[in-house]
Amino acid sequence: MAHYRQVGEVPPKRHTQFRRPDGGLYSEELMGEEGFSSDSSLLYHRGIPSAMVDARPWELPDQTLTPNAPLMPRHLKLHDLFPGEEHKATDAVTGRRLVLGNADVRISYAVSSLTSPYYRNATGDECVYVERGAATVETVFGALTVAQGDYVILPRATTHRWIPTGDQPLRTYAIEANSHIAPPKRYLSRYGQLLEHAPYCERDLRGPAEPLLAEGSDVEVYVKHRGDGPGGLAGSVHVVPEHPFDVVGWDGCLYPYAFNIADFEPITGRVHQPPPVHQVFEGQNFVVCNFVPRKVDYHPLAVPVPYYHSNVDSDEVMFYVDGDYEARKGSGIGKGSISLHPGGHSHGPQPGAVERSLGAEFFDELAVMVDTFRPLGLGEGGAAVDDGKYAWSWSGRGPSA
Ligand SMILES: [Fe+2]
Repeated sequence: MAHYRQVGEVPPKRHTQFRRPDGGLYSEELMGEEGFSSDSSLLYHRGIPSAMVDARPWELPDQTLTPNAPLMPRHLKLHDLFPGEEHKATDAVTGRRLVLGNADVRISYAVSSLTSPYYRNATGDECVYVERGAATVETVFGALTVAQGDYVILPRATTHRWIPTGDQPLRTYAIEANSHIAPPKRYLSRYGQLLEHAPYCERDLRGPAEPLLAEGSDVEVYVKHRGDGPGGLAGSVHVVPEHPFDVVGWDGCLYPYAFNIADFEPITGRVHQPPPVHQVFEGQNFVVCNFVPRKVDYHPLAVPVPYYHSNVDSDEVMFYVDGDYEARKGSGIGKGSISLHPGGHSHGPQPGAVERSLGAEFFDELAVMVDTFRPLGLGEGGAAVDDGKYAWSWSGRGPSA
């Protein structure tokens, strides 16, 4: 995010004395990526950001991954993970259930009504898609007000918490990277500005607008970090003597922000456009794309649904959020479904979908897709809601009994 922002008070010159009203010094902290060689911000704390008074282990939600074997396309019915009132005892961080993952990225899902603990993910950036509901995401950089359709990008090690707001549970689809998540490089100028052919621009990105200052002592912060547990992860709880939200001002190019999927301007053509036109973000060894309501292919002989495709280098995860997904009709897939189309299997429209799509001018569909370049395993959540029969949806029959 090479888009400079300043919030609150900062001294006119970096790395110089910056004093509190009582004459004491603020603590300057540089939060930067890639070892002082990439984007960074300078934060000015009332307290000492390193201070802690206790630490204990945090047992993470189950991060075990089971290989997709035998190799099969799968339909995971995400909404079945939280069918009833479970959200009343769930928060958007500790309540996440792992659906799919590999060594580069993990996809989890939660339906929550509780405020999460203070949390930071020290393994990589998070991109949390808000499927339904609304929340305030309080962060050390300031607060973000988010709602349905927002992607919330939280840079690695950003202390934050999720507070559901509004009258319905918060449904969040968390894409946790082991790297950074950013707009696609091809949409950026050599200095990082979003270019004219990008489907969104800086005006569409919402960052914190003012400092968020809170009082408190002996505050617990849940830290997800590298370790020797499943997925190479571990968790710790740090107890910090003063409230972690003590930043009076910051500036720089590294901060959390939100982007709403409705602000993504679809790129369309006379004939079928390939999935990269739908790309919104990228991380190391994966991309995030979205399929939004759009005018479809307008060549007189166009076939609006996708051709069969074998993404030989990718596993493809489609999360069907809203609308009507034309190519998947007859497969059982609906809102709240995930399809996993693994590398090594050619996929495309279910029988009849191609003919039905001919002459269509508009697709009312909303889906978030993650393509990974290494194979995905099933988390406990994904395995629990696998419909077990999607693989046979193109042939109309499964193995004989
Ligand atoms: Fe596909």
